[in-house]
Amino acid sequence: MMANKWWQEAVVYQVYPRSFQDSDGDGMGDIPGIIQRLPYLKKLGVDVIWLSPVYKSPNADNGYDISDYQAIQPAFGTMADMKQLFAKAHELGLKIMMDLVVNHTSDEHEWFQQSRQSKDNPYRDFYIWRDPVDGHEPNNWASDFGGPAWAFDEQTGQYYLHIFSKKQPDLNWENPKLRQAIYDMMNWWLEQGVDGFRMDVINLISKAMQFPDDPSVDFGKHSSSMEMVANGPRVHKFLREMNEQVLSKADIITVGETPGVTPADAIKYTGFDAHELQMVFQFEHTVIDDSKDGLGKWSDERFALTDLKRVLSKWQVELDGKAWNSLYWNNHDRPRVVSRFGDDRPEYRELSAKMLGTVLHFMQGTPYIYQGEEIGMTNIAYDKITDYQDIDTLNAYQDLVVDQKLVSPEQMMTYVYHSSRDNARTPMQWDATTQAGFTTGTPWLKVNENYPQINVAKAVDDSNSISYYYQRLIALRHELSIMTTGHYELLEPDDTEVYEYKRVTDDEELLVIANFTNHNVQRDFVVPAGATQVISNYEDDAGNMLRPYEAKVYQYRK
Ligand code: GLC
Repeated sequence: MMANKWWQEAVVYQVYPRSFQDSDGDGMGDIPGIIQRLPYLKKLGVDVIWLSPVYKSPNADNGYDISDYQAIQPAFGTMADMKQLFAKAHELGLKIMMDLVVNHTSDEHEWFQQSRQSKDNPYRDFYIWRDPVDGHEPNNWASDFGGPAWAFDEQTGQYYLHIFSKKQPDLNWENPKLRQAIYDMMNWWLEQGVDGFRMDVINLISKAMQFPDDPSVDFGKHSSSMEMVANGPRVHKFLREMNEQVLSKADIITVGETPGVTPADAIKYTGFDAHELQMVFQFEHTVIDDSKDGLGKWSDERFALTDLKRVLSKWQVELDGKAWNSLYWNNHDRPRVVSRFGDDRPEYRELSAKMLGTVLHFMQGTPYIYQGEEIGMTNIAYDKITDYQDIDTLNAYQDLVVDQKLVSPEQMMTYVYHSSRDNARTPMQWDATTQAGFTTGTPWLKVNENYPQINVAKAVDDSNSISYYYQRLIALRHELSIMTTGHYELLEPDDTEVYEYKRVTDDEELLVIANFTNHNVQRDFVVPAGATQVISNYEDDAGNMLRPYEAKVYQYRK
């Protein structure tokens, strides 16, 4: 077992800058808005703030399409604002982790503008260009946002690869000059004061350069070649090099977003002696309610608790002692957890949000909280598809409903309500004033109408709120070392209603019990004599009777 590192005891809070806090009335969150809210995050008790991209971008994918890595998105502020954010955060003892999007850039990045000029441009090999094959795309790869992953560029008569939108050409990591440019840029950010990197789809950076066809592609079903491209032949070489040239030089926190990884893959990236990354975001628990008809996340299936337990337990057990888990329920790409794995109806929303917080925060790993999760923000259901802004949602609608006519508009809206990325992206609900206190102008994405009931001001006034409960969970992580170090043991794997697990060290244990239903259930777990209750979302303890969404944790010596 490795020695404890600060990032293993830390709690991370993700800010989606566009939707967090607007300070100038343009309807878009910004960096001064984040600075204004730092005391709130300090009070919550988190250690690290992960910022989704704030770089200059034409916003085809809300900043995940970067046109200048060393400039700030004007709507978000200036480089001076960014430096101010580092300074103010550091004054409060908060660290800032930036999103690093280096699998691709925007097509408006200077490198790509150069690259597309001519086949002998010095930047040509910064991207992946191929000749047509029989007048068509070089292979059948599908973009994660729909359609082929190759776009034809008239000027030079070749295709370029884009695993995401056409406006997000993939970088060519085979080119040492490109790699050096990325490392230089990362080192520059370290000099500016950044404390870590969350690396966007980092396991896609190494492509199989023979470009074999993807046997799983079905354009009729809006499939994606993302997993085909994942964990490519030279990815570990590239990450080790990045570690050597950048990451190992500073005491920072790193987490890679890695679709399609298994625990064995994760150990290769994050094993305690791998010299690559510290953590990965695995995707397995986020796909347990995927479509049974092969439409990926476009589904309205309800998850099964036994699947959730199976997947999370596998990660807990297989990484234990070898690598470190990231723990997350949701982020800017995933629906709101209280709507997805809990119950967002008014009578159960707070109870189930606290229950879910308990289940996640008591696991081994570093917890990540997504903005608004701590007040139990819910999914959104706009009446019209035109109210949605997310490129992924709009493309899927166009593809499945309009072009393929595979899904009816009504059915698709139920899928959108269940899975759209805009569920997580509605503006942060700060108070009960107009636009939830997010902006004095017109928000870029409509505020959820439930803001008068669900907002930060209300949560702060109520000592029984989800927010105070999260504060307690975060404080406990800093107080109880067993939350960091304990081994995880799943109890009753086949129970379809209750999640029970233990954390175990040589001399003590935690018992975590959570009812995932909205009714009373009786269970025969045994709480050892002398145990103390560490936390619970009910005021009293009804013993073996678990009330709707009840969660509780006991601690005892062995
Ligand atoms: C990651 C991001 C997502 C983005 C995609 C392409 O999955 O989290 O928001 O669309 O990468 O950059």
